[in-house]
Amino acid sequence: MNRVFALWQTAVGKKVAMAVSGILLVAFLISHMASNVLVFTAPEKLDAYAEWLRGFGPLLWVARAGLLALVGIHIAAAWQLTRMARAARPKGYARLEHQVSSYAARTMRYGGVLILVFIVFHILHYTTGDFHPDFVPGEVGRNLVVGMQVKWTAAFYAISMIAIGAHFYHGIWSVFQTLGLNHPSWNRSRVTLTLGLTLVVAGGFLSIPLAALFGLLR
Ligand code: HEM
Repeated sequence: MNRVFALWQTAVGKKVAMAVSGILLVAFLISHMASNVLVFTAPEKLDAYAEWLRGFGPLLWVARAGLLALVGIHIAAAWQLTRMARAARPKGYARLEHQVSSYAARTMRYGGVLILVFIVFHILHYTTGDFHPDFVPGEVGRNLVVGMQVKWTAAFYAISMIAIGAHFYHGIWSVFQTLGLNHPSWNRSRVTLTLGLTLVVAGGFLSIPLAALFGLLR
């Protein structure tokens, strides 16, 4: 345990923590997206899936707590790495020149804040039903379709999914760097894998609010 704590104190440890928590969150998002697009076949299929998940009883709460811990670790590591980077150049530059890397870092930070706001809204929307116009507990598919009929909500989902796509793209790209998989001969596969995953996951999610906005999800 002491070793883990000592590793966490270093910049490399925090980067590894960000990478590992990010990879596990990506795994959750892949399965979450795959189950949500079932709404295009029949909303009841989503109910059956949610019912199956609830069948795990207390284990579902363990998974939820794990998910929350992953988000916490991911944010704490990002926050502390930002502070470490700022502390390394306390006076700032005489002439501020935004480079490509700092552009990506800013995108990650602001995008990350938007994603956090989205997650809070999302849970109050579809899990507790507080922000839902007509929430019926257990009717997950119907709740999804009805909740998306509110135009501004669907637009907010669409914008958040674009932010998630950008976050995803930069995040997956950096994971290769953190894991040392950044040899020039890898670059083509790195671009293909990063872009492919981003398009499938963010695109899959985005298709739902877009379908609602164009009247294709009723
Ligand atoms: C268009 C995009 C999305 C749709 C339509 C959607 C839909 C849903 C629905 C219907 C639920 C309720 C499930 C249930 O009660 O069983 C849910 C729960 C949840 N969603 Fe999403 N989701 C989307 C994107 C996301 C994203 C991008 C994240 C994370 C960044 C996310 C994180 C969660 C979490 C943490 C829960 C709570 C899970 C639980 O309580 O067990 N969702 N989502």
